[in-house]
Amino acid sequence: MSAAELLKNGDLVGMPTETVYGLAACCFNEAAVAKIFTMKGRPARDPLIVHISSLTQLGSVAEVSAQHKIILDRLKNFWPGPLTLILPKKNTVPDIVTAGLKTVAVRMPNHPIALKLIEFSGPLAAPSANISTKVSPTTAEHVQDEFGEKLKIILDGGSSDIGLESTILDISNVNKPRILRPGGVTLEEISKIIPEVAEESYFKNSSDIQESPGQMIEHYCPNTPIVYLNSYQRSEAKNIGLITLSDYPDLNLKVKVHKKLSQNASLSEAAHNLFACMRELDKMSLDVILIEALPRQGIGRAIMDRLDRATARFKGKL
Ligand code: TXA
Ligand code: MG
Repeated sequence: MSAAELLKNGDLVGMPTETVYGLAACCFNEAAVAKIFTMKGRPARDPLIVHISSLTQLGSVAEVSAQHKIILDRLKNFWPGPLTLILPKKNTVPDIVTAGLKTVAVRMPNHPIALKLIEFSGPLAAPSANISTKVSPTTAEHVQDEFGEKLKIILDGGSSDIGLESTILDISNVNKPRILRPGGVTLEEISKIIPEVAEESYFKNSSDIQESPGQMIEHYCPNTPIVYLNSYQRSEAKNIGLITLSDYPDLNLKVKVHKKLSQNASLSEAAHNLFACMRELDKMSLDVILIEALPRQGIGRAIMDRLDRATARFKGKL
């Protein structure tokens, strides 16, 4: 059976996108969407992103006012692309998709396989294809590692270009656009078009969780303890893995494996390699992974958002 047929039958499909791989279900099929939550171990209060392949499909999932259309028109260069927009939801979208919220997250992925699949099967609800709180997948093999035989089809679209999830921009209230998650489109790029998007408007503490229920503090966690290099206090660990942006001055530390995210300190190359690198080191039975904190600018904001969450569990403990 083809991937599109499986989706129409209420099954799930592993789908490549330019950001990370998604675990897709037909967004209008409640039972199929419920399988996503079960397979990922995802809390029901964490809403999903609906993926579309054309602006015509947008009208089938979101209520788009004339004012929204003006904003959409200004953002048109980012669609298809790594930008998710929060808009008022259409009643046709089951509550399970949006965790009961009156808004829906929508994205048009910039990947030929994803676009073709959605064109055939209609809008697809898809979170990142990883077990809840774990590292997002950027290759078909990563998805296979997560779910194995449970998933009948994983479409292999190569390694995801960007390597980090989309930026989430809430424009449901046209007077107060806000970035809820930094991602593939940078704050700098968005503020050129929508200046009122406040710097660092996305939140960092758990008291804000209700606003975007999925933004848990502990997320993107490998099984191996991971901490920032500059906060590492101890030295007794035997098997240390080190991840740095590029070359790094000699440390007074015995390191078992050292990975550089980029040859020439490029933040976008680092974003592309980050999750794959974390997964690779996680398989090496290390005692600890130390990771260099990167500049919080451009795509570096999204990288650091993920790393702040990945390192939250062992903050101050190692
Ligand atoms: O790049 C991406 O966005 C990837 C690919 C597969 O498209 N998807 C992705 O999905 O990252 P996921 O489920 O891992 O993260 C989506 C986040 C959720 O954590 C949730 O907080 C937020 O989107 N979200 C979804 N619907 C929302 C809504 N109505 N209001 C606020 N936040 C919402
Ligand atoms: Mg995710």
